[in-house]
Amino acid sequence: MKALLVSPPASGVRLGEAPEPSAGPGELKVRLLECGICGTDRDIVAGKYGTPPPGRTDLILGHENLGRVVEVGAQVPDFRVGDLVVATVRRGCGICRYCRANRSDFCETGLFTERGIKARDGYLTEFYVEQPEYVVHVPRAHRLSAVLLEPLSVVEKAVAEGRRVLGRLGPAPPGTDAGPSAPTALVTGTGAVGMLAALVLAAEGFSVTAIDRHDDRTPAARLLAQVGVAHVDVSAGLSALKGRTFDLIVEASGSPSLDVALIGLLPPNGALVLTGIPPEGPVPGSGLDGGVFRSVVLGNRAIVGSVNANRRHFESGLRHLTAFRTRWGTLAEQLVSRRLPLGSYSDALGGKAEGTIKTVLTLSD
Ligand code: BGC
Repeated sequence: MKALLVSPPASGVRLGEAPEPSAGPGELKVRLLECGICGTDRDIVAGKYGTPPPGRTDLILGHENLGRVVEVGAQVPDFRVGDLVVATVRRGCGICRYCRANRSDFCETGLFTERGIKARDGYLTEFYVEQPEYVVHVPRAHRLSAVLLEPLSVVEKAVAEGRRVLGRLGPAPPGTDAGPSAPTALVTGTGAVGMLAALVLAAEGFSVTAIDRHDDRTPAARLLAQVGVAHVDVSAGLSALKGRTFDLIVEASGSPSLDVALIGLLPPNGALVLTGIPPEGPVPGSGLDGGVFRSVVLGNRAIVGSVNANRRHFESGLRHLTAFRTRWGTLAEQLVSRRLPLGSYSDALGGKAEGTIKTVLTLSD
C-alpha cells in the first residue's frame, strides 16, 4: 500500500510503499479517509523533529487522522465495518503511573511513542491496524469536520488545564462581588489550533480575542467575526491590544519571544497555557529578564505547558463539534480550507499557504 515516508533526522518526504497490515484478534483495520497536516509534520519533514521506529530509518508520517473501519478482528465488540473513526496519537510507556492509568499525555518517563511522530508509524497510508482502546467512534454528522478532532483534542486538554488553574481559587469569597460576568480569553495564532481554541472558549462563555499578524480580510478573521470573537492584528506589536489583560491565554503560535511577552498580558491569578512547540535555541532579541518570571511567582500567575491529549479529551472534542454545529452550522467544517489528494503531498507539506487554516490530504472517499 502507499505510504508517505520520512526519515528524521534527515529532511525530506516521499511517497513509497509499506506492507498492508491485517487485523489480528482484538484489533481493527481502518482505511484512511483523510489526514490533516500541521506544524509538527512540517518540522518532521524538515528533519527538526520525529524519530523512526526502533531499527528503522523511515517513519510513516501523519497523526491527524480520520478513517473508516474495514475489518473487525475477533473479540472486538463495539465496532462495525463502515464505522467512522479517529485514532489517538500517543501510546504509553507502560512504566509510569500515568501511562498505566491511561493518561499517557502526562507520561513521566518520556518513553511514550506517538503515531506518525515518535517511534511508531502514522496514518498517512491507505490502512492502519489498531487496538480499539485507541480508537474513537465519530458520528456521521461530523464526517467533514472530524479530521479536526485530533487538534481539537489538544485544544480540549489545554483549555481544561487552563480552566483548572483559573478554578484553583474556588468560588468568590463570601460577601464579595463574583467578578465580571464573562471571563476573558486571548488566543494567539489563527491556525487550526488557535481557531479551535477560539471556538471552544466562545462556546464555554469566555469573551474571546484572537490575535495574528493579518488584517480582517483573511478567512480566519471572517470566521471569527461570525462567532463573536474579536480579532486583532498585532503585526505592529502587542500594543494593538491597548494594555488589556486576559484571564486565560491559550498560546498557539509556537513563538518563544511571544510566550515571554504574553506573561505581561496576564492579570494576577491569570493563566497562560502554551500549546505551540517552539524551536530550540536562543530567543532572538528577547532581552529576557528575571523580573518577568518573578512577576509570575508574586502574582500567582500560572504558565502551564500542555501537550498531547487522552481519550477523554477526544470525547469532549466530539461534544464540542456537536455544540459548534448546533450553534454555528457548518462553521467548523470551514476550518478545513484545503483538501488535496495524497499525490500533492509536497504542496501540503511545503509550507502554510496564505489564508489556509487547515490543509488535509485525502486518501479515500
Ligand atoms: C500532536 C500531539 C503530539 C505533539 C508532540 C502535536 O502536533 O498533535 O498529539 O503530542 O505534536 O509530539
